[in-house]
Amino acid sequence: MQERTFAIVKPDAFRKGYTGEIIGEIAKAGFKVVAIKKASISKAQAAGFYAVHKDRPFFDSLTAFMSSGPIVMMVLEKANAIADWRKLMGATNPANAEEGTLRKKFAGSIEENAVHGSDAPETAAFEIGYWFAGYELI
Ligand code: CMP
Repeated sequence: MQERTFAIVKPDAFRKGYTGEIIGEIAKAGFKVVAIKKASISKAQAAGFYAVHKDRPFFDSLTAFMSSGPIVMMVLEKANAIADWRKLMGATNPANAEEGTLRKKFAGSIEENAVHGSDAPETAAFEIGYWFAGYELI
């Protein structure tokens, strides 16, 4: 069964010019890019997206970072997309990320960690719906 997940190339990776290489890895891993767009989001939009983290000490810094420059958002599809995208990204903290993962290659710190991915089917549905309209997902 096909599954969809939501992915972001974060401002740090975009700024450093890694977007093309990251999309190449996504294609090589067998994901279909259902939708893709570049955007510069506001701190308020970032706060809505990361609302589950609103009580964490890093929330203000995270939302400032996510609104600090352009990002690329994608909806990815394949069997087991959520788990497979998380595997390709690697651990949240690049210090713990496995060799060959995107965060090992491209992330600078636990906050500026290059890419984002949904962690469960419910979060994928929320995150896709937060940034993409139905007509963009055909
Ligand atoms: P992401 O997968 O986008 O989900 C939440 C984000 O918060 C995470 O990636 C990191 O960018 C950031 N984050 C998570 N834990 C920490 C932390 N301990 N300190 C700073 N930022 C964090």
